[in-house]
Amino acid sequence: MASLTIRKLDDAVKAYLRLRSAGNGRSVEEEVRVILGELIQGRPDFPGSPSASMASPAEASARAPAIADAANQASVTLIIGGGIAAFKSLELIRRLKERRIEVRCVLTKAAQQFVTPLSASALSHERVYTDLFDPGSEFDAGHIRLARECDLIVVAPATADLMAKMAHGHADDLASAILLAADKPILLAPAMNPLMWNNAATRRNVLQLRRDGVTMIGPNAGEMAETNEAGVGRMSEAVEIAAAAVDILRPPRPRPLLGKRVLITAGPTHEPIDPVRYIANRSSGKQGFAIAAAAQAAGADVTLVSGPVDLRDPAGVTVIRVESARDMLHRVEAALPADIAIFAAAVADWRVANEGEQKLKKTSAGMPPLQLVENPDILATISKMKDKRPPLVIGFAAETEHLIENAKAKIARKGCDWIVANDVSPATGVMGGDRNTVHLLQRAGKEIGAGNIAVDNIEVDSWPVMTKEQVATELVARIAKSLEKNS
Ligand SMILES: Cc1cc2nc3c(=O)[nH]c(=O)nc-3n(C[C@H](O)[C@H](O)[C@H](O)COP(=O)(O)O)c2cc1C
Repeated sequence: MASLTIRKLDDAVKAYLRLRSAGNGRSVEEEVRVILGELIQGRPDFPGSPSASMASPAEASARAPAIADAANQASVTLIIGGGIAAFKSLELIRRLKERRIEVRCVLTKAAQQFVTPLSASALSHERVYTDLFDPGSEFDAGHIRLARECDLIVVAPATADLMAKMAHGHADDLASAILLAADKPILLAPAMNPLMWNNAATRRNVLQLRRDGVTMIGPNAGEMAETNEAGVGRMSEAVEIAAAAVDILRPPRPRPLLGKRVLITAGPTHEPIDPVRYIANRSSGKQGFAIAAAAQAAGADVTLVSGPVDLRDPAGVTVIRVESARDMLHRVEAALPADIAIFAAAVADWRVANEGEQKLKKTSAGMPPLQLVENPDILATISKMKDKRPPLVIGFAAETEHLIENAKAKIARKGCDWIVANDVSPATGVMGGDRNTVHLLQRAGKEIGAGNIAVDNIEVDSWPVMTKEQVATELVARIAKSLEKNS
């Protein structure tokens, strides 16, 4: 019986074995025995294995997906390209397997200069593929099977060379042939020197690949291992790539608001005093932005009209940036019709009547008097519209005292359907913070959009303290449920 000298193994494999054996309370030697046992048990050529009988190539290929289905496991073909970052792909194999994803590895010729097929095989518990012209796997078009009998193809590191080949449709080795024959999503994790990444040829190839529907993660900015240079070109970390793979593999989320137009306002408004000064409030816009993102994730076509905030546009949402309450009202009216309108903005109640055309100067006469006039009430205006009123209008009530009474009075006064009430006293940390404690007030026993209501007929549902994202998700779920009930 051959013996295996642990010392002669790759450093990454040794590190992996030490960690795994420590975690399982075994010696490294025992751990290797367990791994080999697991590896051999499942192989079709192992006597006693249920699949040990000689199967024809057609039978074998027909059986493969069924085995994957029975285990309900996603599977990834991981192509490792020839770059320094190939060592991180060994870590990636572990990360994918931790997530119950089967991994079959393909190493390019150059990749084998950086990591060995043995390491990839030991970590993936699978045979590793390296050659296009391999009689052992090509008797039944192995490259086509590697391309098709998986749920996702990950290329990590994606070298400049591999991306060039993909962009131009080359197929002169196993990796490029698999990528050309693929009918599954492809995720690339590019890694290269920053000069290679910024080279015009690579830029063209990246653009082409994106147009072809390939997903990319990274590269990140940082130091380059091989050159003491820094810049964009470092491969994303294994956990980031595994998370991106899981995102692609996850079954599509339910989209209960598909086909619905949702209009949302967020943030404060700035009411000018003169060209350089304004009246504002402490609203951060986080809650409205979170609702926009949650509605978009639920499939809605979302328009977000936001006052001045320091937040990035949520992906897939049409964002209109405004300054004052009057701008906000104009843009809201222009964005109608909508199926659902959610007014989360903290709109200033008053503006300065005598706004200065020039910067106001200090004079011996003292401070100029600021006269305030009432701003348009966006929630009431839209709730009371005759023709374009959205079927479901939701307002927000930010109060510092008598929260529920004030919110009940507001729902009745403004004519909206629901109110999300929250206590914004400084002690709560809600304004600008990441958490929110809200109460959802709904007209009870009435169809959405039905006329005036007595305050007694308002139901109050108090939610526990949540992150603003959780509040957004819950609110969107309630909206979806009520649409379903009313449809
Ligand atoms: C030490 C060394 C490190 C390399 N690192 C990278 C790299 O990080 N990214 C890259 O695109 N190419 C890198 N290369 C060049 C590739 O190995 C070379 O282009 C090779 O042909 C790629 O083959 P493949 O795309 O089939 O894996 C490196 C080469 C050497 C010698």
